[in-house]
Amino acid sequence: MNSSHSLTIHPAGGFFTELTVPGDKSISHRAAIIAGLANGPCRVRNYLPSEDCLNTLRAMKSLGVTCDYIDTNQYGPTEIIIHGTSMSLSSPSTVIDCGNSGTGMRLLAGILAGQNFESTLTGDASLCSRPMGRIIKPLEGMGAHLKATGDKEGCAPLIFQGRALAPIRYVMPVASAQVKSAVLLAGLFAHGTTSVEQPAITRDHTERMLTDFGIQLGYEENGISIEGGQTPEACNLDIPGDISSAAFWLVAAAANKNSSLTLRGVGLNPTRTAVLKVLLRMGAQIDQSVTTEGNGEPAGDLVAHASELRGTEISGSEIPNLIDEIPILAVAGALAQGTMHIRDAAELRVKESDRIRTVVDNLQAMGANVTEHDDGMTIKGGAKLRGANLDCFGDHRIAMAFSVAGLFAAGETSIRNTECIATSYPGFEDDFSKVCGSSR
Ligand code: S3P
Repeated sequence: MNSSHSLTIHPAGGFFTELTVPGDKSISHRAAIIAGLANGPCRVRNYLPSEDCLNTLRAMKSLGVTCDYIDTNQYGPTEIIIHGTSMSLSSPSTVIDCGNSGTGMRLLAGILAGQNFESTLTGDASLCSRPMGRIIKPLEGMGAHLKATGDKEGCAPLIFQGRALAPIRYVMPVASAQVKSAVLLAGLFAHGTTSVEQPAITRDHTERMLTDFGIQLGYEENGISIEGGQTPEACNLDIPGDISSAAFWLVAAAANKNSSLTLRGVGLNPTRTAVLKVLLRMGAQIDQSVTTEGNGEPAGDLVAHASELRGTEISGSEIPNLIDEIPILAVAGALAQGTMHIRDAAELRVKESDRIRTVVDNLQAMGANVTEHDDGMTIKGGAKLRGANLDCFGDHRIAMAFSVAGLFAAGETSIRNTECIATSYPGFEDDFSKVCGSSR
């Protein structure tokens, strides 16, 4: 594999190594935001120094939060003392740039809507073409005054006037943890009880972290409620490894001959582990052991062994809990025997790229037998993959999923524009070299 914005991959044999993937992206965003609202200093360990999470940290700093960096690596801070503002943010002097991060923008929108100052959220071209109507609607329902000023309707830049918020009872039309979190965070600043009902279970890191910070939440069937006016009580956080990053290695090892790959300290929150269930259903051999429950987030080790993979169906309520892992699961489907059906996943079309299109295009370029649907794809596994010259369309998960696919293709695979990997997994290339270096 080489560097500088394009990757070249050659086929490899079985893998025998151990890795610790970097901190969880979803939890790191929430740590920066919730610790920044807390009533004192919070020590956050294993923060993910990826572009997305660094942008959220910068955003909180521009809102008056101060940070001491206790430990940093070559990508940025990994251990931080975040000095909470006791819910008293200050007016930013510039536009807040969320870069490529939908999570950063949507969660920050939740807190900016209820401030007594104006602010603007923007992002890169991909983020400024993603739908923000899904957060604008409930926030406007709470009395927020915000405008989507992008070239595309309902898209960023978002301009907030800042208003006192009223509570809402919001029934979400899409199963989105980002929307749920935006409304709950806005609810912290509203007077009264805000509640959100979700059509399917989505990742619950916001609820777990708010609880860890002493915030009282109410639980109803499919719904969560929050009483406004509470202040998070400062506490320390240990962020587990990101299972979405671990997924690339699980597939690399499970689809290979004679492999055994151990991943240490991976977050095993049940609203994120559907990827493991699917891989087990596909015949993967993966041992899991929960070793900690720190901050209400279970974490532990995963060991993936070489397996014979077979196709499966992924659809319905399973989709929100593995939405980010679908690109690599589609690669696993192409490497498996039998047919993989992915349905009910139209949300993939509004991620960092249209992930139905970009996965289908790249799989086809590698010789896989795949059919595109409006809400997913069907992959007839077992076709021999061949190396190809691919784009990743500015999408980190497409870049990483097809790096793994390249390990199983005849000849050389090259992927252009891979700098986007830094949005979620700085160090991916080094880990890739480590895994391939263990190849026999
Ligand atoms: C995330 C939620 C998911 C996911 C994203 C991270 C989060 O998006 O795709 O990468 O941290 O809340 P949706 O909630 O929009 O499905």
